[in-house]
Parts: sequence; C-alpha cells; structure tokens
Amino acid sequence: MSFLKEIERRRTFGIISHPDAGKTTLTEKLLLFGGAIQEAGAVKNNKIKKGATSDFMEIERQRGISVATSVLAFIYKDKKINILDTPGHKDFAEDTFRTLTAVDSVIVVIDVAKGVEEQTEKLVEVCRMRNIPMLVFINKLDREGKDAFDLLDEVEQKLGLRVTPMSFPIGMGYDFKGIYNIYDKRLNIFSGDNKQNISAGIEFNDISNPKLDEVVGEKAAETLREELELIYEVYPKFDNTEYLEGKLQPVFFGSALNNFGVKELLDAFIEIAPKPQPKKAEERWVDSKEEKLTGFVFKIHANMDPKHRDRLAFIKIVSGTFKRNAPYLHVRNGKKVKFSSPNTFFAEKKEIVDESFPGDIVGLHDTGNFKIGDTLTEGEHLNFKGIPSFSPEHFRYVNNADPMKSKQLSKGLDQLMDEGVAQLFTLDMNGRKIIGTVGALQYEVIQYRLEHEYGAKCSYENIHVHKACWVEAEDTKNEEFKEFKRVKQRYLAKDKQGQLVFLADSSFTIQMTQSKYPTVKLHFTSEFQ
Ligand code: G4P
Repeated sequence: MSFLKEIERRRTFGIISHPDAGKTTLTEKLLLFGGAIQEAGAVKNNKIKKGATSDFMEIERQRGISVATSVLAFIYKDKKINILDTPGHKDFAEDTFRTLTAVDSVIVVIDVAKGVEEQTEKLVEVCRMRNIPMLVFINKLDREGKDAFDLLDEVEQKLGLRVTPMSFPIGMGYDFKGIYNIYDKRLNIFSGDNKQNISAGIEFNDISNPKLDEVVGEKAAETLREELELIYEVYPKFDNTEYLEGKLQPVFFGSALNNFGVKELLDAFIEIAPKPQPKKAEERWVDSKEEKLTGFVFKIHANMDPKHRDRLAFIKIVSGTFKRNAPYLHVRNGKKVKFSSPNTFFAEKKEIVDESFPGDIVGLHDTGNFKIGDTLTEGEHLNFKGIPSFSPEHFRYVNNADPMKSKQLSKGLDQLMDEGVAQLFTLDMNGRKIIGTVGALQYEVIQYRLEHEYGAKCSYENIHVHKACWVEAEDTKNEEFKEFKRVKQRYLAKDKQGQLVFLADSSFTIQMTQSKYPTVKLHFTSEFQ
C-alpha cells in the first residue's frame, strides 16, 4: 500500500468522559466490532477502578497491565483505528491532557442520566482550546435519563459546543424503543439483548411512511416525527468541514453496554473523522504527508520490573515512515539514535514492528534518554509544541530520608518527573525541592517507586501553596519586575525547564500581585508563549 494510502486510512483518537459514563464499555464494543477481541470484559479488567484511591499498589499493578491498553489498534472496514487510552481517574488528569496532544479527534461519552459532569467539562475545554474535532456519544439510553433536548442544551451550554444530532432516541429507559439515525436515515430497533446479532436497521428515507407506526407504535412514531421536525429547524445541518475545524459537534445516542448505536457511531466516525493532521512545531507546521520522519514523545511508561529499569516511550508519528534500525535525531540532546525493537500495539498485544506511519503510535525502549515532549526527526531541528504543564493541585517539600542515597534520590526524582508523574519546583531562595501533583495519590506512588526502582528514600513535609503560576515579565529589566522578585523572593522557584514560577498561597495573593505588578503576568499553565 502506498504511503499516502496508509495515511488516508488512519484514524487516531481518544475517548474522554467522566468516570463511569461508559468509556471502557464503549472502547470494548468498538474493539469487538474490529474483531480485535473476542469477548466483552477484556479491556475492563485493566481499568483503574474508582475505589482504588486508597490502594495504590493496586493502581501500580493496573498501571503495569495498562501498558498494553495505552493504545488499542484494530482494523475496521480497511481503516486502521488507533484508540489512545485516557485515564478517567482524576489523579491522572495530566496524563490525559498529554495524550490529547497526540490524538486527531475525540469521542466524548456522556451518561444520559448524569448529563455533563465535572471531568468532562475540564477535558472538553482542553479539546476546544485546541480545536480538536469532537463527537459526542450519549450513553445508557436503556436507563431513565434526562430529556434528549434538555441534554443537548446542557451540552451546548456547559461544554460550550455547537451540536447537531446525528441520531435520535425513540423513548428512553423502560420505553426505549430504538434509535433513528438521521445521518443515514435508518431505524434501529432495540431488543435489549447485548448478544444480539446487530441488525442493519430498517431504512426509512421518509419517516412519514406509515410502516414506522407499525414498527414502533403510533404514539412513538408521532413523537419522533415532531422531534425530528424540531431538530431540522433548530440545529445546524451537519457539515464535515465545520466538524473538522472543531466548530460543530455531531451527537449520537446509544447504549454501549447493550451494543446499541455503537456500530452507527463507528460507521459514521470512520467516514467523517480526520485522518492524521498537520502539527505545529516551534519552527514550522509539519504535514503528515511529508516523507521525512517526525514524531514526538507524549507518554513514558516505566517498566514494572525493577530488574529491568528500561521504560517505554510512546511516540506519535506526525510525518514520514518510522523504520526499525534507522538512525533518527533526538533533537533535544542532539544525538543519533536507532531502535532495534520498536513496538506497535494491536488490540491488547504489543509486537515488534518494521514500519509505522503517521497517526500510529510506536513504543520505544528507553533507558532514560527521553522526556515527555521530545522530538525525533531525520536530522531537522524541530521541536513540537503543545505539551503544557498545568498548575498542580497539591504541593509538598520532598526531603532525603537516607543521606547515603542522595544521588539515587535525585536521579529517581529526575526520571519520574521526565515521565510526567508529577512536577518538581526548586525554590530560588534555598534550593529546596517541592513536588506538585494533581492528586494526593501520586505522593505514595513516588515514594514507593523511588524505593523500589532507585533504592532511595524520601519523606514529605507540608507547604501551603494554592497554585503554581508561571511568570511572564513584559520587561525583565524594569523596576517593577525587580521589585516583584525582591518582595516575592521566598515564593519564587524554577520548574524543571528552568522557567520562573510563583508559588502563590491563595487566590487573593494572585489577585493582589496582578494588580500591584501589572507588567508581570501570572499563568496557570507553562505554555503561554
Ligand atoms: P468508564 O470507563 O467511563 O469509567 O465507565 P465503564 O465503561 O466502566 O462503565 C461504568 C458502569 O456503567 C459499568 O457498570 C457499566 O457496565 C455501565 N454501563 C456502561 N454502558 C452502559 C449502558 O449503555 N447502559 C447501562 N445500563 N449501563 C452501562 P458497573 O456496575 O460500574 O460495572 P460492571 O460491574 O458492569 O463492570
């Protein structure tokens, strides 16, 4: 197959949702369609369970297994589908944000009864900022839930999206009769049996056809006709370009558990979803059709076996063909590197691959040379942008608990931070180190991994910080900036990239600081240029 055809057939996306909306179930059903797994339950076993917050060993075990599910690939109707796993657990939100830099589109799953939830809001906001094409799947229609129109309103208002329904439910919960697919004008009748042979649906080009009354009953047919009329009047028509530009979001309804509406979603998805997209590097835009290889690291996974310290760096290929044993430039450290056993991911298996194409993810064995955000090229000095750090929610001093092992501690901290487990800040005043995390759980994980993987011991000490603000000075030489630095000296630190950070103790302090020093801008993310 030609290089261009390989690009054309790839669809790389992530599924995002608030925990429990049905992301894992949907993923699994998509894999079943692709013939990639034989039975339901396979992916689910790898899920980090919501109750696991107090049991981080369990999370570590799950994390180990989840290497295999980081990327789930399968072929469906000759399209190569790559689903990138995004942890729903809020303590791993930063992982999800980073993964979103490697997808070309996303599917947002919403629980019909719960509507738009907090985690969905946060994730969709990140996608919206990046104009990532989004498709919405409203799940659990077999249960009583919110009225479909109310839900569409909620999606528009809370998520700031502009929606167009591509399918519409007939009834809900106990009365759920099926779904009318506006997109391909077909009616699917719900039988409530998840082992059903998925029927192709009944074609209803004209819903005034009296056969509809026979199939779903007179009352339901009448309601559907009225609802569709309203939809055609109120909502914009689907437009593929608008969807691809992130300006319009198609909505589907269904029930992942019952395998209902999933095939329709997948069929529409492969038709409308974007193929591998161009990506912006600091120097220029890179198009997927360029023949020279470029790619970037968006995730690093540590080996769970302490005897083998190597890690797996996940690279998203942006352009060109990735070849086994070919020399590539690791742009940040300026070294040529070769990979003799790059991994590809297929369903739940990891295999050595000779060639990979734009949109694909390759896993590279790494002994500590890669950091999140690193770029690989065939020689060009390119740096892909867009892997920001967000202000952590929790902050603690980290102390060395075994003076004989200070080297091990700093190496361990260094590598764990490169993996993106947490963020490290070094106070300007005294060089003390502070670890910032999204969830409190990471502190246990770090302590455990330092001990088991690096032989180092650490202890923590509380510090009162509300937010880390990245500092941007209009003029680093003006008096205002000098005064800011002098007055706030005790609260200034450097992040791992050497950027100046102000550790503010309250939102009031942030407000006061902003009004007192208007030429000093404070940002909650490291990427503001
Ligand atoms: P997540 O990955 O987004 O966290 O959600 P997950 O797929 O694990 O689904 C959360 C719960 O919702 C699961 O039930 C799952 O079976 C259920 N679910 C998913 N899709 C549907 C649907 O279409 N209809 C209904 N009625 N339920 C659905 P659980 O009891 O928490 O887990 P389990 O015991 O079934 O594994």
